[in-house]
Amino acid sequence: KNNIVLVGGGSTWTPGILKAMTTHLDQFALNRVVLYDVNEERQEVIGEFAKILFKEEAPEVEVSYTTDAEVAYKDVDFVFCQMRTGGFDMREKDEKIPLEHGVIGQETCGPGGFSYGLRSIRDMEEMVRDVRRLSPDAWILNYTNPAAIVALALDKIFPKEDKILNICDQPVNLLRSYSKLIDHDVNKLEPVYFGLNHFGWFTHIYDETGRDRAPELKEIISNGGFRPVDAEQRDQSWLETYAMVEDMLKDFPDYLPNTYLQYYLYPEYKVKKLDPNWTRTDEVRAGREKKVFAECRRIVDNGTASDSKVVHNDAHGDMMVEVAASIANNERKTFIVMVRNEGIIANLPNDSMVEVAATLGVNGPQPYAVGEIDTFYKGLIENQHAFEKLTVEAYMEGSYTKALQALTLNRTVVDAKKARIVLDALIEANKDYWPTL
Ligand code: G6P
Repeated sequence: KNNIVLVGGGSTWTPGILKAMTTHLDQFALNRVVLYDVNEERQEVIGEFAKILFKEEAPEVEVSYTTDAEVAYKDVDFVFCQMRTGGFDMREKDEKIPLEHGVIGQETCGPGGFSYGLRSIRDMEEMVRDVRRLSPDAWILNYTNPAAIVALALDKIFPKEDKILNICDQPVNLLRSYSKLIDHDVNKLEPVYFGLNHFGWFTHIYDETGRDRAPELKEIISNGGFRPVDAEQRDQSWLETYAMVEDMLKDFPDYLPNTYLQYYLYPEYKVKKLDPNWTRTDEVRAGREKKVFAECRRIVDNGTASDSKVVHNDAHGDMMVEVAASIANNERKTFIVMVRNEGIIANLPNDSMVEVAATLGVNGPQPYAVGEIDTFYKGLIENQHAFEKLTVEAYMEGSYTKALQALTLNRTVVDAKKARIVLDALIEANKDYWPTL
């Protein structure tokens, strides 16, 4: 039975992950679950909810919550990490500052992702060091954003680590939607995928008969638009984001694109669509934040989670638990994960953190080779990798020049004068978090 800690235990994603844990107990047995967050108030609400949920669904599991890293990381087998350094106050700045200067404002893409990345690296590095001191053999499953930059930074800082897995839920979100579009069991679909995190493409989607369903999916999406499987739970901005899969496919019909590529392919169009006075942070605060916390408080007051509405079993929660189970039980199931390239995509830099399909077992991820990719994709990815690498180096060396180079390379910025203005504004906003550049 496993002892786990969930970092970012006060997040609105936590109830869904906890629920997924209770529904996967036969696959992933639990002994102890500790929730850990630096925000005491948020942690208490979600932590009390967790106690009620497990008391009703799995009373044999010991559940607790803490704001003390020494308690959180002691003797664990798995760390589920989804922290948000700076919380929503800083996410808001990541989105609004670039937008004030006419540049994409998004939590993982462009200057917003750069800003968030420089904040995340320090806390992530500290987390890994704490975990290794208190639980030397634990697996660290990392979902922290911006995942691309975090993954590359951890690989550079801890090159010998072989028990850190970086993974994102967007490929599986897409795969679930594809499975709905072709009315096929998602567990029987085998994807071939290449790229970087939030910057990749599905080339094939094989079913259990060996047939590639990607052509059919492209046809469906091109004719009727893309509809996410969980459309009724999605806010307006996400529905608009998904709608653009069709545009991307029309312009670049080779492969099925990750949704996030639209910020890099159509930056001018996307900027016009984004409102600097009402960004995704405002939408999340007005929606998910309010709803989840109100519901968790209600459950705590009532003392039962049996009629709970917010703890739906979303893809994110299911995936986190299935990933852990695949490692713990050496199931070697296929997931799309981030790994150091080293030849997987033959004509890309070896040190990039590529996102590809891999089997997952006790030996960690065993990626499938992709081979050479075509010029257009190679060009885009090399540019994005250079941005990611310079961002990590700017952090590690405290280099303003590298930070400016990174932002200038980013397809959402391009103009160096604009890059400098946005960088200076972000430095000011992040002075409590960033190293001196
Ligand atoms: C998707 C992405 C995640 C991202 C999340 C943001 O799931 O794959 O990387 O964190 O969306 O969602 P939010 O609802 O907070 O904007």
